[in-house]
Amino acid sequence: MLGVTGSIAVYKAADLTSRLVKAGYIVDVVMTEAAQEFVQPLTFQALTHRPVVTEMFNLHSEMAVEHIALAERADVLLIAPATANIIAKLRYGFADDMLSCTALATRAPIVIAPAMNNGMYENPVTQENIAVLKERGVTFVGPGEGYLACGTVGRGRLTEIMDIFDAVKIALGRKGDLMGKRIVVTAGGTEEPIDPVRCITNRSSGKMGYALAEAARDRGAEVHLIAGPGSLRTPYGVRFTAVRTANDMFAAVQAATRDCHAVLMAAAVSDYRVAEVAKQKIKKSASSLSLELAKNPDILASLTGDFIKIGFAAESQDLLANAQMKLQAKGLHMIVANDISRAGSGFGGDTNEATLLFPDGRREALPLMTKERLAHIILDRTTDLY
Ligand code: C5P
Repeated sequence: MLGVTGSIAVYKAADLTSRLVKAGYIVDVVMTEAAQEFVQPLTFQALTHRPVVTEMFNLHSEMAVEHIALAERADVLLIAPATANIIAKLRYGFADDMLSCTALATRAPIVIAPAMNNGMYENPVTQENIAVLKERGVTFVGPGEGYLACGTVGRGRLTEIMDIFDAVKIALGRKGDLMGKRIVVTAGGTEEPIDPVRCITNRSSGKMGYALAEAARDRGAEVHLIAGPGSLRTPYGVRFTAVRTANDMFAAVQAATRDCHAVLMAAAVSDYRVAEVAKQKIKKSASSLSLELAKNPDILASLTGDFIKIGFAAESQDLLANAQMKLQAKGLHMIVANDISRAGSGFGGDTNEATLLFPDGRREALPLMTKERLAHIILDRTTDLY
């Protein structure tokens, strides 16, 4: 259920609604009177294909009689944008319109994305209201900082739509099967410097690791994502460590796995680094140039502890034989093998075709699917391993 209140950021709630619907959520929208001054209910009705609830006492609306049913049916109540007014009403338990009434009646988790003038947000009364609601278990996402519609710059703008979307998924995942599990995920390629300008890297986009981190988070896990340089959006609600070299990743993973239940090493770690990094930019005067490479530590192989270790093998030939060898050499509970030479399974794409291999000899060949779907299957097998 999406509660929409009277802030200029209402137009962003339309975008959010569209994304939720596209992702398969059934969205019931409740608008306050003030929200309708900014945007017509028809906008949300067209996006959700469902009636929008606007009044409590409209005899022609079946929702009016059923407003408690509406509260009971919600899996999550998101209020975005949420004004200082609705936050104050929720804190004190007012129920004088459909949204406040629903918020009071529902047992579903509540997520609030505030949007207001920075003065209103920073006012001690608003801050106190937020603190009390947080203590009662309400989740707040944002607000962000920046240019505000009133012409000032400060804290109070509706946070990024994708972060709100993620906060909803986290709220829905509170009873997920990975609840209470601490999972470390690595993603992306590493970068080994040659000189202050150049580096050795690889074509890993990080998409598989990011998909795993988000899927685990959505199923209730506490996720620590350790990623090499890349352009992907840092997922909301996960602990994030950015690294550059294989050695940086090694140190970060060693520290993160001291207290975890599983590690999923999706990163494409550089096997070698430049033995001596040039302090100054190398000039192109010589007709050829040789670089001496030194071996990097194998992060996965070095990890010991009472947690599940899952590795990845990206190969261009002898896929299963190579993956089998790595499974044993690195002491893994499972390895995800994918043939990077096949269409749809290469670096950078949104899909992958993988085979899962287990130490007891079991193999599970999976069809081509999105990395998101594959992430969930990998997590299904991880939970089977517990
Ligand atoms: O040996 P190879 O690099 O093919 O093994 C791939 C698996 O090992 C991946 O899970 C990768 O993240 C991990 N790996 C590692 N440390 C390295 C190289 C690879 O942990 N130095």
